[in-house]
Amino acid sequence: MRQYAEPRTGCFGALKDFRSTSGQPTSLVPVKAITLPGVEEYAAAHTTSDPEHLVEVAAETRRLCELPQMMIGPVQARFLQFYLLALQPRAVLEIGTFTGYSSLSMAEVLPPGGHITTCELSEENAAIAQRHIDASAYADRITIRVGPALKTIESLSGPFDFVMLDADQANFSEYLDPLLERLSPNGVIAVDNVLWNGAVIDNCDGDPATDGIHRFNKMVAARPDLVCVLLTIRDGILLIRRAEGRD
Ligand SMILES: C[S@@+](CC[C@H](N)C(=O)[O-])C[C@H]1O[C@@H](n2cnc3c(N)ncnc32)[C@H](O)[C@@H]1O
Repeated sequence: MRQYAEPRTGCFGALKDFRSTSGQPTSLVPVKAITLPGVEEYAAAHTTSDPEHLVEVAAETRRLCELPQMMIGPVQARFLQFYLLALQPRAVLEIGTFTGYSSLSMAEVLPPGGHITTCELSEENAAIAQRHIDASAYADRITIRVGPALKTIESLSGPFDFVMLDADQANFSEYLDPLLERLSPNGVIAVDNVLWNGAVIDNCDGDPATDGIHRFNKMVAARPDLVCVLLTIRDGILLIRRAEGRD
């Protein structure tokens, strides 16, 4: 569960995702617990721990950034690693690098020659991520592209075997077609935070992110050319593939 604190200064632009268009914080207070009390902690305690380099990224993110909860965290990281080990993606696209935790988690399990292109709006966040990537054993597997992701995606031809969408929730719907155009035939798009602390269920908090996510979830589920599953892992992960992907 996200437990958002009030914003402090020096946030490296990370709050962008969580503010309304008027600039007011909107989603900084937890709405509802998605799981029973203690379940998230129990799951974390019975999940393989992060390797040392991810522990360091997480520790520095907690020290420097006001919303370290934006990192996917060990449970989701281990899940992604299991999934990517099965999928064996050679080309991965990530939207939302933050401080590099999820990129580095995915890089660890890529097949030989596998590569991640990861998009980040904030130069400060990208600089932190780049430092951790350079210090890791996976520097040659990750390229950060700084700028608004929708613009960056326009410049990428793909195809990508796996896409992780983890930023810009209010505008999720705008990403779907550009990402599908660049998805390999059997590729998968994973979208994070699709439950938004449960706020999507009523969708009445006036938060553009809640509305953007809810519209996106509905749009994907209604498309006959797509197959999706909404997993209630952490803040919700939507997996999407083409209905007729296999050649
Ligand atoms: C939820 S965090 C990503 C967390 C990261 N995937 C992880 O698990 O460590 C979202 C990040 O996306 C960035 N962001 C927000 N809007 C963006 C946009 N339009 N284009 C690219 N990045 C954006 C934010 O600055 C923030 O660092």
